[in-house]
Amino acid sequence: MNESEKIKNLKSNNIYSYDSPELLKFEKQMSRYFEREYKRWENNSNLPEDYGVSSFDGDIAKQETLNVSVDHYDEEYKVYRSFLDSDYMAYTMGYYGVTSDENPSHKITLEQAQIDKYKLIIERADIHDGQHILDLGCGFGGLSRYLLETFPTVNIVAINPSEIQTNHIRNELVGKENSFDDSRFKLIQSFFNTAESLDISQNSFDRIITVGLLEHITNIDLLQKNLSYMLKVGGKCFHHCIVSRDLIPQYLNAENTIMAQYYPGAHIWPYNEPKRHDNHLQLTDSWFVNGMNYWRTIDAWHKRFWISIDELYPKYLSIEEVDNWNKYFSLCKTMFNPNSGESYGNGHYLYEKVK
Ligand SMILES: C[S@@+](CC[C@H](N)C(=O)[O-])C[C@H]1O[C@@H](n2cnc3c(N)ncnc32)[C@H](O)[C@@H]1O
Repeated sequence: MNESEKIKNLKSNNIYSYDSPELLKFEKQMSRYFEREYKRWENNSNLPEDYGVSSFDGDIAKQETLNVSVDHYDEEYKVYRSFLDSDYMAYTMGYYGVTSDENPSHKITLEQAQIDKYKLIIERADIHDGQHILDLGCGFGGLSRYLLETFPTVNIVAINPSEIQTNHIRNELVGKENSFDDSRFKLIQSFFNTAESLDISQNSFDRIITVGLLEHITNIDLLQKNLSYMLKVGGKCFHHCIVSRDLIPQYLNAENTIMAQYYPGAHIWPYNEPKRHDNHLQLTDSWFVNGMNYWRTIDAWHKRFWISIDELYPKYLSIEEVDNWNKYFSLCKTMFNPNSGESYGNGHYLYEKVK
């Protein structure tokens, strides 16, 4: 990366760019720290309750902390535009095909990796034409867009409280993309608390998909109860979320870690936790998705962020904000790569409404 005057200026303030020796050294140290931490909790057989946290109690999500969390999503649209994939603006892991056995070295673009994630979700959640689908926590509408484009007769309801993300859907997709016509797509700008508060009737959907939502959910049991209410009998629900392979006590509440600065009120559940929620909906399958897929995704975001730095700084970002974003990318990346991505990754969970 050519060193522009701005990059030099940031460097003189101890903000080091993507791929610089200083940042790579910092990331190596961080990875080693997380590797030790994962080793420490390997095969931890305790439950969250043993650490005073329960995914069976309380409100679905903490509204007050979610409000703050939504501030994060509502930061400059321009910044998200600069680093997310251009087509779908997915703000979750792209799928590069990394598994415990395979680490493909061929270059897949971020754009393709996001499409490959959608394909994986379609296959695992058994999505096909004609279905009525709820995209809960829809972000910038990428999954909805891909489904509407791929299946000419699916209908979608998408829910998201974020102003900047729903504005993107209203301004860039609805009215501009043919697939987003009113008869097939409905956007609800709101926090999801209960089905009733949003006037969603019983037995409405064939599929409910959440991508990156469970990290914001405090009471998974109450969420599942509501999802069961909205699903038709025989309908399926699919969750995709960040998980640790083993239970790491301090990750159960973001407030215990530096992550609270970015996602107050968030939770990183251990892989087994959503599987315990087999009461309102029946768990039919689950998969651990290797963390190197997310590492590659964030690495691509991080690189694109720095490629756009001349545009972003100082027009849209102050020096402190550049520092925050840079640390955020490095921190998130280095949580995923220890132990070749087998300690920290994503969980996929498929449930069915059987009665
Ligand atoms: C990590 S982002 C993922 C967005 C999108 N699904 C994607 O893959 O790009 C999490 C999303 O969940 C939304 N969210 C968080 N809490 C929510 C709630 N209680 N109800 C609805 N959406 C929520 C956020 O606004 C954000 O759009």
